[in-house]
Amino acid sequence: MLIIAASAANRKHRPMRMGGGSSLFLESAVLVVLLGCCILPPSARAAVHYYDFVLKETNFTRLCSSKSMLTVNDSLPGPVIRVHKGDTVYVNVYNHGSYGVTIHWHGVKQPRNPWSDGPEYVTQCPIEPGSNFTYEVIFSKEEGTLWWHAHSDWTRAGVNGAIVVYPKEGTTYPFEEPDGEEVVVLGSWYKGDVNEEVEEDLESGSDTPRSDAYIINGQPGDFCECSKDFTHRWSVDYGKKYIIRLVSAVMNAEMFFAIGGHNFTVVGMDGAYIKPLVTSFVMIAPGQTMDILVTANQSLGQYYMATRQYDSVKPDVTDYDKVNATAILQYTGNYTDTSAPLFPDTLPIYYDYKSAINFMSHIRSLANEEYPVDVPRNITTFMYITASMGEVEFVKNSTTKTGLASSLNNVSWVNPSTDVLMAYYRNLSGYFTTDFPDWPGKFFNFTADDVSDDYELAVQGTRVKMLNYNEEVEIVFQGTNVMDASEDHPMHLHGYAFYVVGAGYGNFDNETDPKSYNLVDPPEVNTVSLPKKGWVAIRFRASNPGVWLWHCHLDRHYSWGMTTVFIVKNGGTPETSIKEPPPYMPPCKDSSLQLRKSDAASSVEWNKGDV
Ligand code: C2O
Ligand code: CU
Repeated sequence: MLIIAASAANRKHRPMRMGGGSSLFLESAVLVVLLGCCILPPSARAAVHYYDFVLKETNFTRLCSSKSMLTVNDSLPGPVIRVHKGDTVYVNVYNHGSYGVTIHWHGVKQPRNPWSDGPEYVTQCPIEPGSNFTYEVIFSKEEGTLWWHAHSDWTRAGVNGAIVVYPKEGTTYPFEEPDGEEVVVLGSWYKGDVNEEVEEDLESGSDTPRSDAYIINGQPGDFCECSKDFTHRWSVDYGKKYIIRLVSAVMNAEMFFAIGGHNFTVVGMDGAYIKPLVTSFVMIAPGQTMDILVTANQSLGQYYMATRQYDSVKPDVTDYDKVNATAILQYTGNYTDTSAPLFPDTLPIYYDYKSAINFMSHIRSLANEEYPVDVPRNITTFMYITASMGEVEFVKNSTTKTGLASSLNNVSWVNPSTDVLMAYYRNLSGYFTTDFPDWPGKFFNFTADDVSDDYELAVQGTRVKMLNYNEEVEIVFQGTNVMDASEDHPMHLHGYAFYVVGAGYGNFDNETDPKSYNLVDPPEVNTVSLPKKGWVAIRFRASNPGVWLWHCHLDRHYSWGMTTVFIVKNGGTPETSIKEPPPYMPPCKDSSLQLRKSDAASSVEWNKGDV
């Protein structure tokens, strides 16, 4: 196999316009890698791309107030990475900010390459200010839309962007080729310094900040103060067909999204095509991505693309971000239309649980000859995992306090001081334990309206689950109503996509519920919403060796410990084993949360690394 390496000298830079934003960024040269050209068919050719990501503080004014925030290349959302299926991208990240950061390539499976997956203290330590690190992002089966984001603290509020994966050169979409493309990134806006606020909240054990607005391609839109002049606009030509690459980079809420006057067709989700789904709105969870076809077939004019929170918490909890963020779809041409843009009357209201469930239940894989499914049928590892809100006890200034926490099977994740991957690869003991439980410690009516307080206390730990190579895994996630705090949890697995074979209300019944599983055309995704007071069943084959994080993609739940790690062992041959580490990994210098060894929750200390 011959790989041509790029030398800095022969890379030419060409400017490229981002689909969804206003700034320019540099995409370095594309080099073709010849993978044994004489034996493989031409379609097996993959390209290599280079990007430079410069992390730095950028000034923003939104909602009449100014702040500076870390971004990539000064843009919000950040640069779009565009590749064809099977390509490889090297992203050189330079940290010109003032704190350590890592970047994760959300939904990219990175076969055998956990080294470049990104989650802080799981596969690497932070890229410290003044240093840089090159990620090797290996695309394999993904096709459609994915995204990237910071995976340290809450930095991803400003450090995120879309990834567009086109069909392999010489192949095409399973639908008519669109005439144009629009990248739409939904996000959360905080007026303050969100990392600072979160750090204080975590230290005191209190609730985390609420966003001040939602944003579309960096802008909250016409209905927010000091925003109207900057609303994101997208021009379309009458009669043309477009593909919207929709990404939810929102921090802590699921969102509804719709376009005034236009129905559309969802054709892809999380980097895989689905059976075309015609709809007048979508519900999209943090972490999810969708490919949406829309035809510009309405009267020449302006139409709002609008998003608002889907709030699954409780009708009596009304303290959420109620902003209706908007962008404008405007037809080109000569017309005099002075009326306000049309707002989508199909955008469900905040607490419209039924619409959310209804939308989710209609997603199906293509499952045809060209895009087959491979659903595991001989399950060798079964796990039943409760996802709960709760509390943990921790010691601060020699007093025991309790603080908000969340947990999986009653274990609330704590980051080790050296990343799990390095500790595992180098066989270092003392950084994690391999006893993540397959079952909840206690069984009770998880979804009752009045769960007893006895179930609130979780234990802290860095407990991982070991899986043998090629194990066929089924996990049933069970939502709970502990603390009367049930809500949807968008569960995300790194390194894999999985099939969502079932979902339902209430407690999972292991006799009757599996009978309703869809093993024929279940959606294959990397993030799934565990419905409030319900369960969801997923399956995957553990064919990617490595250290892979699993977590709720609501950042407050992630910070509170609704997180764990799978270590998938090597399969015994070089092709089934973790790649060699790259020559340089960012060194670990301290950890933000250090695990103090102890079995009992009450004596676990929760320190800010200053001991
Ligand atoms: Cu979007 Cu752990 O990631
Ligand atoms: Cu959650």
